[in-house]
Amino acid sequence: MPPSLPPIADKHLPALLAAMPKAVLHIHVEGSLEPEMIFQLAQRNDIPLPYASVQELRSAYAFTNLQSFLDLYYQGAGVLQKEEDFYDLALAYLARAAMDNVVHVEMFFDPQTHTARGVAMETVVHGLARACRDAQAMHGISASLILSFLRHLSEREAFETLEQALPLREHFIGVGLDSSELGHPPEKFERVFARCGELGLHRVAHAGEEGPPAYIWQALDLLHAERIDHGVQAVHDAALMERLARERIPLTVCPLSNQKLQVFPDLRDHNLKALLDAGLVATVNSDDPAYFGGYTNENLRQVFAATGMHAGHAWQLAANSFDASFAPAADKARWHAQLGAVFERFATR
Ligand code: ADE
Ligand code: ZN
Repeated sequence: MPPSLPPIADKHLPALLAAMPKAVLHIHVEGSLEPEMIFQLAQRNDIPLPYASVQELRSAYAFTNLQSFLDLYYQGAGVLQKEEDFYDLALAYLARAAMDNVVHVEMFFDPQTHTARGVAMETVVHGLARACRDAQAMHGISASLILSFLRHLSEREAFETLEQALPLREHFIGVGLDSSELGHPPEKFERVFARCGELGLHRVAHAGEEGPPAYIWQALDLLHAERIDHGVQAVHDAALMERLARERIPLTVCPLSNQKLQVFPDLRDHNLKALLDAGLVATVNSDDPAYFGGYTNENLRQVFAATGMHAGHAWQLAANSFDASFAPAADKARWHAQLGAVFERFATR
């Protein structure tokens, strides 16, 4: 907590959470594909859907675990075919994020989901990158891309994907690791991530969402991950908690995702407050907002209401989101100043 944090009355907390500037570091652009847009793109691209209506599709979003969600998420992404589709998707997300006072986004995309269907890597990357550029001018939000490997696929396929993406290297800042966690430990991708390190790419990985603390150790020691996506299972390992705090390894936590995928079926049991109180650099993110019932501010609103965090936690989460980002130091300093100004505006003294 900053030494000079002004006093904020509890009644102002929801408005403060919404108004404060923040960065989002864990968003899968394919997970921002709302059912309405699935139907629009299916029509535009002449793709049949196994659902009669938007309501019928939305009512299928009842998940029992990560895999039950991923099955629908990959099916939904099938409507993305042309560069314009990727552009429209990413620009719609960034416009929505700006409404939540998000000032910076580091956005995952899953190229293998698309290249496996015959969509060219350039189609995906050019559409997304153009949306990131235009969002800066249109919505005053900065955005960069992180190419995420699908961990249920092989090491060889990850290397092939990296090869295909390298001519487009200027358009993404790093690599990630996502999809089905259990049974696909980080060690499977040690050599791919080593190559990405040689190429100067940032490295992050999903670990400890459903998987054990051992997967977080592997992500740190074998993949040299600079951030851990989710990481909530770290609380079961005291030595790991101590290391994450000491080395200031950020965790990109996604409360509504954890609730909907039954990691914490009751949000009151979520451990975000415990992570922050243990000194970890935790952040709040939306993961796949179109599937989990809320964008960034809704995640903040619900997790604060459920776990009784206060304005000090809010400041810490926003500050952590800037510190944990891969943005230039000058941008981080500007966002920190904006954060301080918003807190002053809400001060009750
Ligand atoms: N891909 C999209 N969302 C994901 C999540 N929450 N975990 C793993 N892979 C994902
Ligand atoms: Zn994720």
